[in-house]
Amino acid sequence: MKGPKIVATPPGPKAREFMERDKKVMSPSLTRTAPLVGVEAEGVWVKDIDDNIFLDFSSGIAVTNIGHRDPRVMSAIREQAEKAIHINSCDFYTLPQVDLAEKLFEVTPGDFKKRIFFGNSGTEAVEAALKIAQWHTQNYYVISFIGGFHGRTMGSLQLTTPGVTARRHFKGMMPGAYHTPYPYCYRCPFKLEYPDCGLRCLEYIEDTVLDKLCPPEDASCLIVEPIQGAAGYIVPPDEFMPRLAKLCKEHGIILVADEVQTGFGRSGEWFACNHWDVKPDIITVSKAIASGLPCGAAIARAEIMDWESGAHENTLGGNPVVCSAALSVVDAIRSDDLVENSAKIGSYLLERFEEMAEDHPIIGDVRGKGLMIGLELVKDRESKEPAKKQRDELMRKAFKRGLILLGADVSSLRLAPPLILTKEQADAGLRVFEDALSEVEEGS
Ligand SMILES: Cc1ncc(COP(=O)(O)O)c(C=O)c1O
Repeated sequence: MKGPKIVATPPGPKAREFMERDKKVMSPSLTRTAPLVGVEAEGVWVKDIDDNIFLDFSSGIAVTNIGHRDPRVMSAIREQAEKAIHINSCDFYTLPQVDLAEKLFEVTPGDFKKRIFFGNSGTEAVEAALKIAQWHTQNYYVISFIGGFHGRTMGSLQLTTPGVTARRHFKGMMPGAYHTPYPYCYRCPFKLEYPDCGLRCLEYIEDTVLDKLCPPEDASCLIVEPIQGAAGYIVPPDEFMPRLAKLCKEHGIILVADEVQTGFGRSGEWFACNHWDVKPDIITVSKAIASGLPCGAAIARAEIMDWESGAHENTLGGNPVVCSAALSVVDAIRSDDLVENSAKIGSYLLERFEEMAEDHPIIGDVRGKGLMIGLELVKDRESKEPAKKQRDELMRKAFKRGLILLGADVSSLRLAPPLILTKEQADAGLRVFEDALSEVEEGS
């Protein structure tokens, strides 16, 4: 499969027909930012129901890091399915879980003793992390960052604050959460400038959150995305994560790094915490872990995961087929040097977008690490008024030309292509992107 190739302007006739059927039966809560009715996928390409082939700059939201349908993952799935599809690991034992646990301990930050709990998604990984921290500390206060995304179940949802839509009308969210500003320097919540601000957002945790709201000895944990994902790939200043880790250590607060989106090479390191040599007490992973099969996990320092038998379990977590797929994902990232490729092609793309911004004033901010690149569109660089309509239009126009983009926040874009992306494919994506952008600017 190779593209981009548009044979029927998307959404084509079959896609439109399918979308009508879908509309009648599927939950209206699904946002559906692009009319992509994907039926086949391979590498960096996705084919839709009308035979259009798209270059995937989303990886199904940072999932297919090693590319769609890697043959090694398919063999691993097939081989395990021939043996057993389900055993259950709360009442019994499951072989590939332990192999996967040992492998994940090698690639996650920190060479201390760890333990793992498997679930089926990112939100379950976060719920497990919260419960591990609560059980260990016997406290229930949690500190999280505004703009953070940690999931949509009633515990993680309480910590999810990129916008009110996901929270509106849900009254049963977990109590005991305090939200604190993230270092979103392009739109500083304190209207200050880095580095003159001295990282006011960190001081705020100490002089306001911990001093006035949440006594540190009553906190169960602090949860952070080392690079905020759904908020638009917001990279904090380099000193932020190390200072945050130090702050947590000094106050005896468990640090949870939510690496559901940043993990598995996405940011140009195995995990984003590695950029700053931070070793969190608990790390949550999901998305890319099994190349699209449902899997999530909370990995904790062994001494923290000290809950008793029966305190937390599930039926399908750590399914053998899923774990076998995940083992092949870790091997593929290692053997194909995909972390290195993510850093290399990511830097190339970042530079090209920075150059593009010189000719296109609508690009207000370019940021990112590895193959997680955030762009923020503005009507005016001085006022920074979000160009939401133009962002939406850009996504539509790029899609019609065969490029899948992901939106974020009000007027941002998240670019997250598979880590196997070559320079030629990156250039192809850049060309489509710039053509679509020029058209948006011309208002045509
Ligand atoms: C950082 C982070 N944590 C948690 C989640 C929730 O993952 P899931 O959608 O698999 O529940 C997401 C999803 O986008 C995420 O980006």
